[in-house]
Amino acid sequence: MIKIAPSILSADFAKLGQEVKEVEAAGAELIHIDVMDGHFVPNITMGPIVVEALRPITQLPLDVHLMIENPDNYIEQFAKAGADYISVHVEACRHLHRTIQLIKSLNVKAGVVLNPHTPIESIQHILEDIDFVLFMTVNPGFGGQKFITSVVPKIEALSAIIKERGLNIEIEVDGGITAQTIGECAKAGVTMFVAGSAIYNKEDRAKALQEIKAAGEA
Ligand code: DX5
Ligand code: ZN
Repeated sequence: MIKIAPSILSADFAKLGQEVKEVEAAGAELIHIDVMDGHFVPNITMGPIVVEALRPITQLPLDVHLMIENPDNYIEQFAKAGADYISVHVEACRHLHRTIQLIKSLNVKAGVVLNPHTPIESIQHILEDIDFVLFMTVNPGFGGQKFITSVVPKIEALSAIIKERGLNIEIEVDGGITAQTIGECAKAGVTMFVAGSAIYNKEDRAKALQEIKAAGEA
């Protein structure tokens, strides 16, 4: 089953509530929220107050992608603001296992994000503890970048491990997802797909979302 998570990074921030409601009506399954601190990635976006403001205006789960240093200092705030999923980058966590336990203690689904260069071996010993893995198929920081194809074999390798070990882990992919790139990711075992520019930069967001989903299901 394919779940589409539109990334509001490419939405019109002057009318964010409306932008979220539009993709919910169009059939989105999650709302992806990109949090950037200007340190872990070279861009600055939004914090817990945006999650809090969006929480009452949508029924959809809020998928919060933390691209920040010292995520432990902010996880509780994001959980209280209404995050349903929180993911952290391997490179931003000095004690990844502790960070995952913190997310889970707040009754939030816990995910680890792998940059394009980050090996799956870095999460090998934590797979039993996490709910999902987010594969970056661009370098984090900006929307509208080109899909990095060389990540796909890494996704296939993790899918095989998940199957072999009988684990209950979802795979999410983020960066450059379009109707052209979704298929190979779906085949590799991805079920959650972030799409920012491919939805919000289109005039007809509902049509764009449905085309991407159909391509993933094909
Ligand atoms: C990039 C963000 C993505 C971004 C994806 O650092 O994590 O979620 O919004 O945008 P597109 O879909 O345009 O590549
Ligand atoms: Zn993201």
